[in-house]
Amino acid sequence: MKYPWWKGAVIYQVYPRSFHDSNDDGIGDLKGIVEKLDYLRWLGVDAVWLSPIFKSPMVDFGYDVSDYRDIDPVFGTMDDFDLLLEEAHKRGIKVILDQVYNHTSDQHPWFLESKSSRTNPKADWYIWMDGEPGKPPNNWRSFFGGSAWEWCEERKQYYLHLFAKEQPDLNWRNPQVREAILETIEFWLQKGVDGFRFDVVNMFYKDAWFRDNPIGEDGQQYNVFNIDRPETLLAVEEIQELVERYPDRVTIGEVASPMGFYAYLEYTKPGRLNLAFNFEFMHVPEFKASLFRKMVEDTERIFEDLSWPCYVLGNHDTRRVRSRYDGENSIERCKLLATMLLTLRGTAFIYYGEEIGMEEAVIPYGEIQDPEGKNLWPEKPGRDGCRTPMQWDDSQYAGFSRVKPWLPVNENKREVNVAHQESDPNSLLNHYRSLIELRKDSDVLKWGKLQVLESSQDVFAYLRSWRGKRIVVVLNFLGETTSAGLQLSEKAQVLHSNRRQPGKVCSLHDLKLHPYEALVMEVE
Ligand code: NOJ
Ligand code: CA
Repeated sequence: MKYPWWKGAVIYQVYPRSFHDSNDDGIGDLKGIVEKLDYLRWLGVDAVWLSPIFKSPMVDFGYDVSDYRDIDPVFGTMDDFDLLLEEAHKRGIKVILDQVYNHTSDQHPWFLESKSSRTNPKADWYIWMDGEPGKPPNNWRSFFGGSAWEWCEERKQYYLHLFAKEQPDLNWRNPQVREAILETIEFWLQKGVDGFRFDVVNMFYKDAWFRDNPIGEDGQQYNVFNIDRPETLLAVEEIQELVERYPDRVTIGEVASPMGFYAYLEYTKPGRLNLAFNFEFMHVPEFKASLFRKMVEDTERIFEDLSWPCYVLGNHDTRRVRSRYDGENSIERCKLLATMLLTLRGTAFIYYGEEIGMEEAVIPYGEIQDPEGKNLWPEKPGRDGCRTPMQWDDSQYAGFSRVKPWLPVNENKREVNVAHQESDPNSLLNHYRSLIELRKDSDVLKWGKLQVLESSQDVFAYLRSWRGKRIVVVLNFLGETTSAGLQLSEKAQVLHSNRRQPGKVCSLHDLKLHPYEALVMEVE
């Protein structure tokens, strides 16, 4: 049986504004990414996912698209994109595009037409409702703060925006809208891209009656009627049917739902998307074996063979993983998490800079760029802290640009940079690289079954098995020497570890682990 490439894959997320600036304007661009493809090949990733590169007024940095079929000039041209695709493919790297179809920019020609009158041909392409100024149609809140309804003078009506007011929500109940979106998806399929990441895919449809969301005792609103509507699954099936006409593509859903695992599963059942980001690791509040173990057990139990799991440690919306847990030894902790990410059963996602241990930056209020931060500061500082320029070296702007970048470079660039870590065999970067290499050559790690093993309290251990071969992974979450507590009597050979040399043979029943050791072994 041939397994689809994406099942064992390592997918690297590039936030294009922040990866590499080729033309000295302080903003990353497509040519900048092309210049770094050799780095990505060296790292060994199978695919890159690019956050949006399409024409956009950049209110939400590309998640507000004003032309789905063109490249924003700040990132380059369509020729640059074609070059990127070709150069990536030459290096065996696939390219996945971000697709934002819950909403467009308010500068998209569709919206400009839609808002011009109540009778134009696109009058019904967005979600318009009657009301009076100051009296929105219902209580729905925008995820970026305030009411989700904005008054439009031209139509004397409200339109819905689940995000910024410059991001009006499309009306998925209109068949013309669905058709226009499918055509756009096909445009990119024909160009030869290898897959898509669908932004907030569980929000496409809204309650047909626009019922008020319930409010909890704490005054918090529960997103019941504005997201996760069952009709959305039909849209997903239509998209999947189209994409499957093209071989070897992958579809990934951003399912941002309070239902967590159950929503991920729903969106990835047969005939639906291939993958839905499993965000649960990002919510683990403490660096504890039992908490991570539970996430993996839940994933395995809920997904079974119904759908393929995947794991994510960070992305452009979340605090950087290295900064998530207080305490020293954060690089050792990152190594352990990297070993876990890359040896679990499931597609692995890496957010740019994670592989060198980039940290969350503190952005002074006056320099905040993110609409979430601008609107919700100080309760929410926004997402700029995880979007700072990639740290390539220790020069003034970290080799990202020759001019002042759009967001400040993190001060830790002296140690946290690619050049420094490339030459250090014990660096986090080389830890990632060697693990990716190991995974690439191992059918057990790519496809094997996973069984959580009994172990001592601060250890998380699991067995991967495939066609008679077995690999055991043992992770010590404690900064102290610990006995693994495995109930296995076999001997095993070290394949990878942050604390000991590969090749050594150890007996599993009395295995002792170094502080924060992440050990991958082949059972003999
Ligand atoms: C989810 C994206 O990941 C986020 O960055 C964006 O702000 C919202 N969707 C709106 O598109
Ligand atoms: Ca640039």
